[in-house]
Amino acid sequence: MLHRDLHLDFNHAISPKIPQGVPDAELEAMAPAFSQVHRALHAMHEMGQVQFLHLPHLEETLREVETRAAKISENFDTMVVLGIGGSGLGAKAIAGALHGPLLPGVKKAGAKNLIVLDTLDPDYFKSLLDSVDLKRTLFNVVSKSGNTVETMAQFLIIYERLKKQVGENFRKHIVMTTDAKKGTLRRLCEEEGFESFEILPGVGGRFSALSPVGLFPSAFLGISIQQLAEGASRMIKRCAVEDLWINPAAMLAVVTYLLAEKHNRRQLVVFNYSESFQTSVEWFRQLWAESLGKQHDLQGREIRAGITPVHASGPRDQHSQVQLYVDGPADKMFMFWHLEKFDADFTVPKLYSEKDSLGYLGGRKLSEILFAEMQATEQALDDAGAPSFRLSLPLKDPYTLGQLFYLLEIATVYTGGLFNVNPYDQPGVERGKQYLYGKLGRKGFEEFGASLARRLKDKRYVV
Ligand code: PA5
Repeated sequence: MLHRDLHLDFNHAISPKIPQGVPDAELEAMAPAFSQVHRALHAMHEMGQVQFLHLPHLEETLREVETRAAKISENFDTMVVLGIGGSGLGAKAIAGALHGPLLPGVKKAGAKNLIVLDTLDPDYFKSLLDSVDLKRTLFNVVSKSGNTVETMAQFLIIYERLKKQVGENFRKHIVMTTDAKKGTLRRLCEEEGFESFEILPGVGGRFSALSPVGLFPSAFLGISIQQLAEGASRMIKRCAVEDLWINPAAMLAVVTYLLAEKHNRRQLVVFNYSESFQTSVEWFRQLWAESLGKQHDLQGREIRAGITPVHASGPRDQHSQVQLYVDGPADKMFMFWHLEKFDADFTVPKLYSEKDSLGYLGGRKLSEILFAEMQATEQALDDAGAPSFRLSLPLKDPYTLGQLFYLLEIATVYTGGLFNVNPYDQPGVERGKQYLYGKLGRKGFEEFGASLARRLKDKRYVV
């Protein structure tokens, strides 16, 4: 199998080509700051502290997941992942890019099916339960903490339903993917004998796509997790160099950081032109937002760091958002995602060649028109002075996706280093979770519940 590297093109984010882009000299001047961040990451990695960088090299885990997934999948057609945020988005990204089919509700004949249930919408829950055959469905409960409200509520409903409808062997329909030692789910595995996979203690949700969190669902679908790991390893190798100009994650981090901090471009629009990679953009949105959006720097000073990721899809949003992007506030930068080779293609027939508005399309491939659409949008943004850069994904395969995950994970950690924030925590998310526990009456969170009740009492400006 021929493996190809993905590439980034920053020509249209840098001045003088784009006058509002980053001046070459500014990039050059960032080299020492980048070296410092790179060396710190490298040193932590050497000490075994950056666990996500080890994941693609854990051959024993890869083999174990593959073997166990093959065995488990013999008895099931569908896997439902009960998991949210970093515990659901990795599997969603992998299945979206590599499994298909892309139309909602359409199943590939004879193939396994994966559903990630990251919502509590009761109507959605009902349609899910109505559409799956419980006897052939496996529920994979994924939660690092074993605490998350959405996942726990779903699990309790499913547990009861399986018990009623599947009978005494119902526990075989539940697998848990959770911390190796801590948390309620681990305790349940010990007490009730659920089959389980372990998440390493140092691997946070949004960095866990290549841990069993993403690997087990992928292997269940028959996706090569070895190739995902090979792609990731390749990217780790490309990013091991300290030279800013040839390290792809470094360029991504430094260019976005400078555009945000020095040129007031605080929104990053990811303009993706492949339906297969839409769920990968969703995954990236969480990674970037939760890792970089921080009130304090590492010394505890208030800095309010972050760059807001926005998801746009081409060509759809050319007819919806591009007017704002071209003529509206100059506060955005753009990252175009271009898939170089689709699995299928269609040629537009040469019909009505005498009509100007149809004839020029005859003989062109859909992929060619799509690419032209992206180039035209890039140029319209160039004309408006908006900095953009392009990420080219060579193929729709596990090797490319492995590279993509690790490019974006390493770039996120570098950018966190440049902002001088901790990219691995999420105190803002935790604050929301505490109020939710308080509201729902969990022991130990009474104060949060009380302050939420006070807030809800105030009806002054309700209209
Ligand atoms: O990236 C993260 O850490 C979060 O998004 C978590 O994945 C999310 O909150 C779910 O947490 P848990 O895996 O503990 O259920």
